[in-house]
Amino acid sequence: MTQSHTVQDHVGSSADLDFETNDARQEVVVIANRLPLRYSTSDVGGEWTPSPGGLVSALTAVLSESNGLWIGWPGATEYDSEPTYDGIRLQPVDITAEEYEEYYLGFSNATLWPLYHDAIRYPEFHRSWWHAYQAVNERFAKVAADSVAPGGIVWVHDYQLQLVPRMLRRLRPDVRIGFFLHIPFPAAELFMQMPWRKEILEGLLGADLIGFQVHTAAVNFSRIARRLTSAKGNAAVLEYDDREIRVGAFPISVDSAQISAKVDDPAIRERASAIRSELGDPELVMLGVDRLDYTKGIRQRIRALSELYSEGFLIPGRDVMVQIAVPSRESDAHYDVARRNIEQSVGETNGDLGLVGKPVIHYIHQNLPFDELVALYLAADVMLVTPFRDGMNLVAKEYVMAHSDMTGRLVLSEFAGAAMELTGAFMVNPHDLDGLKDVIRAAVSAPENTARARMARMRRSVLGRTVYDWADSFLGALRTDPVIAPLTVDESRPLTP
Ligand code: G6P
Repeated sequence: MTQSHTVQDHVGSSADLDFETNDARQEVVVIANRLPLRYSTSDVGGEWTPSPGGLVSALTAVLSESNGLWIGWPGATEYDSEPTYDGIRLQPVDITAEEYEEYYLGFSNATLWPLYHDAIRYPEFHRSWWHAYQAVNERFAKVAADSVAPGGIVWVHDYQLQLVPRMLRRLRPDVRIGFFLHIPFPAAELFMQMPWRKEILEGLLGADLIGFQVHTAAVNFSRIARRLTSAKGNAAVLEYDDREIRVGAFPISVDSAQISAKVDDPAIRERASAIRSELGDPELVMLGVDRLDYTKGIRQRIRALSELYSEGFLIPGRDVMVQIAVPSRESDAHYDVARRNIEQSVGETNGDLGLVGKPVIHYIHQNLPFDELVALYLAADVMLVTPFRDGMNLVAKEYVMAHSDMTGRLVLSEFAGAAMELTGAFMVNPHDLDGLKDVIRAAVSAPENTARARMARMRRSVLGRTVYDWADSFLGALRTDPVIAPLTVDESRPLTP
């Protein structure tokens, strides 16, 4: 049966709230643009599949262990039945087709996403998109206000919902509100372009705790907030509206135990061997796994490899690259162009350098099951993670966790948040094509003992701080009254994020 959920189904106002009788309200509510499942339709019908992105994998790990409620968009305007997921209670919030264009594709992904990623693409500013962003944020805030128990906790996630903390505080001053930004927060030079910069800052300042992936982002935010709003204080504690707001770095991580268990699973180990033999038993397997996004530096990576093949450092047949590009935001023109550019580069490289039955780049534009990804991580000698800018990049941490035998080499962009912790990686500035080639050469050629020591260092870092530690430290700080120093990471190297 198709349920036609309308926007009004989920909208309430503060006057509608019935605190006495609504005993289904939750102590802990997570609110993110996406539910962990999304609904999509094809010729054969509709289905719920896992949503893409680091946010979902991180929060699923956390919420499946607690009895929380997850509020989010199901990814479709009409869907069959209510989704259920791993014991997590899900509350869908609907958006209209017009809001999909203006709030999701527009303000979230064509204004905020490029602006917060170093304006790699020109951010577009449209008033109608801003109005849609306000309206959808208001809707999410009202659903959260209806769902949370008195004195409970609401944890708001990511750039799509930056106005929710303030809107929710107005409806429910009794709840504690945390906000975590999964993507970078830009320096003032870029953020100042935003026509509604003050409103966004004030939206975020409705929270009690504001978390970022890296220290630099937290400092950027506090500095701009003090410049543009009435907030006072220092980088870690702001005073605003007669409240104290804590600001800090809470670097997100992966479910290390889950990945370790998969790595020990004989079926996944067999699959990893099978992948190598299906690739023609090459000496060297290189791997890239990304959402197909212009921030990820996929084409730059292919260019570097293509030159390394042309120059004879890499040999077709002996050395192969596997690039998994997970489909993403396909109705956006920038993503469409990025896809065509990547596929043209793959085609040219294989056309120029591949042999019959031996392409140099195996390109897969699909969303693969996680077990298959782990098998690919296991099979890969070198992992290439080369974004121009990335909030964290969990793929880098997943690869490290898959190499319990200390094999594997990680080439990692200085501009990924993960670079602050994974100091054992072969660091690269992906804007520098010759530098990228040098670092790939260095990673491939490094003596085994050096590579093992690097991997061991990275594994200590990831094992020392899992996704559960991330959630515990954030929720712990949110629950604690006295000001505690938010967690910071060693920033002595590298310098970039
Ligand atoms: C990144 C963002 C998430 C987003 C995900 C997938 O990880 O931080 O908020 O959900 O990309 O993007 P999508 O637009 O498909 O939700």
